[in-house]
Amino acid sequence: MTRLLLETLKNNPGDRVPFWFMRQAGRYLPEYLETRAKSKSFMDFCYSPDLATEVTLQPIRRYGMDGAILFADILVVPDGLGQQVWFETGHGPRLTPVNDEATFSKIGMTGFHEKVGAVYETVRRLRKELPDEVTLLGFAGAPWTVATYMVEGSGSKDHGAARLLGYSKPGLFGRLLDMLVEATSEYLIAQIDAGADAVQIFDSWSAALPEPAFDNWVIEPTRAIVSRIRAKHKEVPIIGFPRLAGSLYKKYVRETGVNAVSLDTGVSLKIGRDIQNMVPVQGNLDPWHVVAGGGGMVAETLRILEGLAGGAHVFNLGHGFVPQTNPEHVAELAKTIKTFRR
Ligand code: CP3
Repeated sequence: MTRLLLETLKNNPGDRVPFWFMRQAGRYLPEYLETRAKSKSFMDFCYSPDLATEVTLQPIRRYGMDGAILFADILVVPDGLGQQVWFETGHGPRLTPVNDEATFSKIGMTGFHEKVGAVYETVRRLRKELPDEVTLLGFAGAPWTVATYMVEGSGSKDHGAARLLGYSKPGLFGRLLDMLVEATSEYLIAQIDAGADAVQIFDSWSAALPEPAFDNWVIEPTRAIVSRIRAKHKEVPIIGFPRLAGSLYKKYVRETGVNAVSLDTGVSLKIGRDIQNMVPVQGNLDPWHVVAGGGGMVAETLRILEGLAGGAHVFNLGHGFVPQTNPEHVAELAKTIKTFRR
């Protein structure tokens, strides 16, 4: 039995290009909304192995992706560290901010695995229920991206609160990133122990950081997580996603040691091919093309498939599906990818 996605991530591509999509389980699917309605809060939903398993499997049943991504959220980690996290409809995530010594002293690893243990149970159930040939992906947010939420207490446009803390109190901010490195490494190792075949580290907000900040807040913590996971699980591919890192993409790949990298919509196929000479790549269809659908979507999908056919490529989006996505368009997209041959 071979898992095509897993093999491709290990740089052994086949003649078909494997695929999965960020946010493949989500609000564009009517069956997701139906299951989601069974849980009052989004965090409870993430901690319900029955419901989280069900919504992870829903897109696989419909479209036959090569990979299933665990259903959870990057904000499970701050929740496990003892910060309060909740989701307000229309406002997105809310957290009690951690931005000084007093608030930092209230969080830590004590009780972390008990708090997030339901996620590990979801991974165990998924590995049992998924078809053998489907690769199971675990994930976590990268320390910088998770810290932007922890410090700000919500999402934000420019991540000003986290940048300000990093520049004005580098010692405290460094200790916060160190704590996140430890929690995230242990969290991902536990997902692998429970049955994840590969893991993805989402650094969704790594855009437009000055190079020294990118080095200290994005590259160094990610490198530390990669080396901790490797020490326990040498063979498990680790996918990095430094979204919108622009000119620093190649440096990220070289210095973090990730096994594969996800390309955002802004990475050209020429740069994508350069990166393929270093590691396998994922990407990078604009999710809005799937909202639009039709011939434009198909042509763009083929442009990406052909442009990256010379090396290891996992087809994906450049960022997650948006709720406006028409499920019929996803079916056509899946058909286009499945019938393409390298
Ligand atoms: O299908 C999958 O991709 C797996 C599940 C998954 C979710 N979030 C479910 C979710 C994954 C991998 C994530 C990662 C995540 N969460 C990221 C990194 C990836 C990215 O999109 O950049 C980030 C930044 C978050 C934080 C987060 N979670 C925000 C900002 C929001 C609110 C967004 C909104 O549009 O309301 C969430 C909520 C969330 N996480 C939803 C889903 C399906 C939607 C909420 C709901 O169903 O009620």
